[in-house]
Amino acid sequence: MKSEEVRKKFLDFFQDRGHAVVPSSSLIPDDPSVLLTSAGMQQFKPYYTGDADSDKDFGSKNTVSIQKSFRTTDIDEVGDSTHLTLLEMMGNFSFGGYFKKEAIQYAHDFITKELGLEISYVTIFEGSRDVPKDEESREIWNSLGVTDIREEGLEDVFWGPTGNAGPCGPTTEIYCKYASGEDVEVWNIVFNQFFFPGSREELLSGKSKKKLEPLESPGVDTGMGFERLMAVFEGQSSIYETDLLEPIVSKIKELKPGLDEKVVRVLADHLRSSCFLISDGVLPSNKEAGYILRRLIRKVIGYEIKYDIHANLLTEISKVVVEKYGHIYKNLDEKSVSLVLEGEKDKFKTALSKGLKELADYKKLTAKDAFRLYETYGLPFDLIKEMAPGGIGKSIKQSDFDKEFERHQKVSRAGAEKKFGGHGLILDTGELKATNKIELEKVTRLHTATHLMQAALRKVLGDQVEQRGSDITVERTRFDFTFDRKLTDEEVKKVENLVNGVIEKDLPVNFEEMPLEKAKKTGALYFFKGRYPLQVKVYYVGESLDKAFSKELCGGPHVERTGGMGIFEIKKQQAVAEGIRRVRADLKTDK
Ligand code: GLY
Repeated sequence: MKSEEVRKKFLDFFQDRGHAVVPSSSLIPDDPSVLLTSAGMQQFKPYYTGDADSDKDFGSKNTVSIQKSFRTTDIDEVGDSTHLTLLEMMGNFSFGGYFKKEAIQYAHDFITKELGLEISYVTIFEGSRDVPKDEESREIWNSLGVTDIREEGLEDVFWGPTGNAGPCGPTTEIYCKYASGEDVEVWNIVFNQFFFPGSREELLSGKSKKKLEPLESPGVDTGMGFERLMAVFEGQSSIYETDLLEPIVSKIKELKPGLDEKVVRVLADHLRSSCFLISDGVLPSNKEAGYILRRLIRKVIGYEIKYDIHANLLTEISKVVVEKYGHIYKNLDEKSVSLVLEGEKDKFKTALSKGLKELADYKKLTAKDAFRLYETYGLPFDLIKEMAPGGIGKSIKQSDFDKEFERHQKVSRAGAEKKFGGHGLILDTGELKATNKIELEKVTRLHTATHLMQAALRKVLGDQVEQRGSDITVERTRFDFTFDRKLTDEEVKKVENLVNGVIEKDLPVNFEEMPLEKAKKTGALYFFKGRYPLQVKVYYVGESLDKAFSKELCGGPHVERTGGMGIFEIKKQQAVAEGIRRVRADLKTDK
């Protein structure tokens, strides 16, 4: 299996050169200003700025990883020979360990010597108002015998920042050939010399007053799409022919022969991405990452309707994805993936099919029509554009659709503010809400009880229980978790007894602060949405972290001891989505 050899070769190559191998982080990033992880460097942001110490956390100034990455910006290009929404990004990183000379030499040697590939050409930064032309990289490439060196500008060869602010700097890229003769960018080598206190858009606009600030010690960040590299390595004309995608593509073709090649590719991409997103805890919804997932799934369902595909693509392909990737990404789980996918299909297939039928009758289409079709039938904008008859959807601009969307949101937000207006909250963590001191004490008790309940649910029902949501008010705690059936009365009783047992024992509640990676290794639970900083608190109930009844990554607040919390009772349970159950529970006290 070629990709597995290359995967290993890459990690070994850099490990042999003093890099610590760091596992991929979740697709749901720590940085709340970024919807989904889109690059290998994201989990390392604090190491560039000096906010974290790589030597301390990884035992080296240099790291290497293969990071699952999702690129929303590439959605419209999926189906060509080079773009995917989800890709595995190979990268080596240095936080003050080495700079241009070693970075270019390593990349050159890996491509030409380890893999025996030919470099077509490389690019360097042509310079801008604030940053000089990268003559140093040109000289290094020259010294390695590479002579086709092309200069490009800010838009193409200046990386970052990701999110609201971050490290950034000029890059040099390596281009190689596909069998079709097309040159593709395979490796992007970034020299993080600066910190920009704004977004990439602000940086590129040239109008921002914010300035590039030099980083104290410059770093290296590189990104090489595994799928593209494999296409070059295997002598293929597209990423879909590599052994990373081919099993998915052939399964689709087997299930529905005769589909257009581009349709097959979009299906393969969207199904693979959906499996990864769901396994990292994204659930379809109408906002943020959940909406990206929903769009992918609806596109698949839309294609099934349009191309009359009766085979169960969602289930069949999730099997292939898990077979292909499950040994590397251990959280890929066929059962929960197919439950979520099927759940979306059950909910939306009829509406989507009605919507597509109505769309087929349009002679002319405006952004307003498109929004109405979205609102009424759930047809995503890109599906409308693509499936409108006679290409009449092509001219509608995303920005006009977005305007309709915003107008609608303003109206519903005004409604929501009225409903909740007038409450001065003294605590609102998103999960916990309280308006005064007495409420604060109650929600704090319920918060600790929620941790105990999760631990108890896992003891009674097994490790498939994972938190999917939690909302705590003065009246109750509401907790969503993965589980595919109703709990029996006996199970409910067992959970209550376990929690009440801990309350009676009057155990202490404490936290320890540590790096995220270390915290995960303690066995602490950390499921929901995974937006954690690199330094986290592990709250545990019990005499020590090792012997704790419950441990979870959490920001608090919690009670100091469990005694006197009240009597824990599960009041209600229901199903909220396929494979997701919700319970409401409360603490009875005389307080
Ligand atoms: N951070 C460099 C890249 O992903 O291309």
